Amino acid sequence: MESILRVDGGKPLTGDIFVRGAKNFVPKAMVASLLGSSPSKLRNVPQIRDVDVVSELLSLHGVQINFDQGAGVLDLNPENVEIAHVADIDALAGSSRIPILFCGPLLHRLGEAFIPDLGGCNIGGRPIDFHLDTLRSFGAVVDKQENGIHITAPNGLRGTQVHLPYPSVGATEQTLLTAVMADGLTELTGAAIEPEIMDLINVLQKMGAIMSVDTDRTIRIEGVKELSGFTHTALPDRIEAASWASAALATRGDIYVRGAHQPDMTTFLNTFRKVGGAFRVDDEGIRFWHPGGDLKPIVLETNVHPGFMTDWQQPLVVALTQATGLSILHETVYENRLGFTSALIEMGANIQVYRECLGGLRCRFGQRNFNHSAVISGPTKLHGANIEVPDLRGGFSYLIAALAAEGESMVRGIDVISRGYEHFLNKLARLDASVERC
Ligand code: EPZ
Repeated sequence: MESILRVDGGKPLTGDIFVRGAKNFVPKAMVASLLGSSPSKLRNVPQIRDVDVVSELLSLHGVQINFDQGAGVLDLNPENVEIAHVADIDALAGSSRIPILFCGPLLHRLGEAFIPDLGGCNIGGRPIDFHLDTLRSFGAVVDKQENGIHITAPNGLRGTQVHLPYPSVGATEQTLLTAVMADGLTELTGAAIEPEIMDLINVLQKMGAIMSVDTDRTIRIEGVKELSGFTHTALPDRIEAASWASAALATRGDIYVRGAHQPDMTTFLNTFRKVGGAFRVDDEGIRFWHPGGDLKPIVLETNVHPGFMTDWQQPLVVALTQATGLSILHETVYENRLGFTSALIEMGANIQVYRECLGGLRCRFGQRNFNHSAVISGPTKLHGANIEVPDLRGGFSYLIAALAAEGESMVRGIDVISRGYEHFLNKLARLDASVERC
């Protein structure tokens, strides 16, 4: 049965919710546990689909897993890692991008790996060329097969030099997870340095890795022979926290996000304040609210850390439809992340998308055939509509739009949202939203 949510919009979201560990960190730390010769314990783990997929893939490889979902504690015992049956792995094809990160750890443990075709949001081509080039430079042999990749390391994995043409989060993680036990020194230049990457480095360091991060995005890793398990508390999900903040703005509400961590959200908080949102930080979280009056339009350009995160823009765009004047958005990380605006236009938003780079930076997508800039003119009254969730962050922005709109909306395909937003229906109920699963 298709997962449909009926939403009665037009009411402010008010109340408090709790955000747990970051979707874009927790599954990577789970993969890192494969490298340990002893068990690991991960705390602050959310109940989201990506955690389930990676748990399944780890279990297929012989890792014993116990997940205390209430406490958010995951115990992983990798002492009996073994080759998995390709057919079983295949069953997980298309469900996540994380499996590609199993390559390095499985090569170290087993000398070979079979990786299913990847999934992930349809927001661009999502190539893995950086990943495969990096693995080859360590000495791996990559065999592209019909429904996945078979990878071996006949002469072991040796430290190497990796230069990333773009600070790719996944390719940086690929390099770190392979270099930590490779033979010799690895130098990675052009690395991503997102807080989730730095927390993965914390985990690897706890396991016994030797790594340095320089001011010029260069990470140097000295391979070691053995790594132990780790105990770690995951950093909170700054994308989920920012999504609820945007929901408070768009619905003229007031939401306390317990677990939100200011240092990871500095750029978002600056932007939130410039748009006219109010926030207050305390030791347990951040309160976000609409203080009344008009919201202000802004020029918004997404970028890698410490810039404005690409995953923050879709929910915030809904709030910008309520700002008085013209806002300009330039998405520079993904080439095809503005498709979600068509449903907002159907609901009454005034948004025009462009192929040109409308912002300070000329980016990789300028003068190619990608609509990656937008002009949002507001404020416009949003009215309910029947809409289909396109991807994870676009899906959450549709929820916000339906909650901000006057009247009833039917939002289809909402299960996609549980990939990255733990118990979001319970949270909406806590925030007094009028929603009903059909
Ligand atoms: C991670 O994706 C996140 N996902 C994304 O979050 C996030 O938007 C992205 O990093 C950027 O911060 C997870 O961590 C699971 P990239 P990833 O490699 O690693 C190009 C969400 O909604 N590229 O940093 O796949 C790529 O096409 C998701 O939570 C190559 O060209 O992103 C893109 O233009 C969406 N070749 C750019 O780099 C490659 O081999 C950034 O991608 C790899 C990437």
